[in-house]
Amino acid sequence: MSNPKTLISLDGITRIYKVGSERIRALDGVTVDIGHNEYVAVMGQSGSGKSTLMNLIGCLDRATEGTYILDGKDTTRMSNPALARARNEKIGFVFQSFELLGKLNAVKNVELPLIYARNASFTRSKKAKQTLKRVGLGDRMRHRPNQLSGGEKQRVAVARALVNNPSILLADEPTGNLDSRTSREILGLFDNLHNQGQTIIMVTHESDVACHAKRILRMLDGKIVSDLPVEADEAYRYRHGGQRL
Ligand SMILES: Nc1ncnc2c1ncn2[C@@H]1O[C@H](COP(=O)(O)OP(=O)(O)OP(=O)(O)O)[C@@H](O)[C@H]1O
Ligand SMILES: [Mg+2]
Repeated sequence: MSNPKTLISLDGITRIYKVGSERIRALDGVTVDIGHNEYVAVMGQSGSGKSTLMNLIGCLDRATEGTYILDGKDTTRMSNPALARARNEKIGFVFQSFELLGKLNAVKNVELPLIYARNASFTRSKKAKQTLKRVGLGDRMRHRPNQLSGGEKQRVAVARALVNNPSILLADEPTGNLDSRTSREILGLFDNLHNQGQTIIMVTHESDVACHAKRILRMLDGKIVSDLPVEADEAYRYRHGGQRL
């Protein structure tokens, strides 16, 4: 039996993509547990399987082999509609490219997951506004994405990810398109969310971003090759060696 604090339990996860006659082993026997309120950074070179892992944890994709238990439930045995429901209830996703709908203002963008969750219109709007306030955008509710700065757009995306109170916030290179000041702003927001109890898993290429997490997973060729508390990881030593920042 796994630890009661375990939220995500991956056991022997393999994901093989088939392209023509080629088979690409994007994940190759990943076994890892992540608990409630952990803040994890996933690092590794391009093509090492980070996004594939995030899509799997986020129930956007299924493993070819292995078992994924999410909050005590075996997702491997779920039907597609049940998996989609689990995703909607438990997962909030943030991407590098924001993925906001350009024609909708901030409130309407944040409301989107609530439409899928079948909330009434008044409730949707109220929750969306509350969440925008939570990410510090109370004064930008009616702005459309092209009327917002990069950092503000990403904060709208974070609000959209959080509006359903998901168990897990998944962020795939959330600061990849932001300058360093704006990145710090988003990372400060993540720090606050973590302090309020949010579980966060974030992909990043940058040591100074990864250092905000408490645990660092490093991937290579579809495998986790290092899993250390931040203080023991080279990203932390790099930062505190004074070579950066
Ligand atoms: N839909 C797909 N079909 C076929 N192959 C894929 C697909 N998605 C990813 N791959 C392959 O799987 C491997 C892992 O890809 P993945 O996107 O997970 O890497 P990543 O670590 O996120 O890289 P990056 O840092 O560039 O985002 C790569 O070799 C990639 O080419
Ligand atoms: Mg990726």
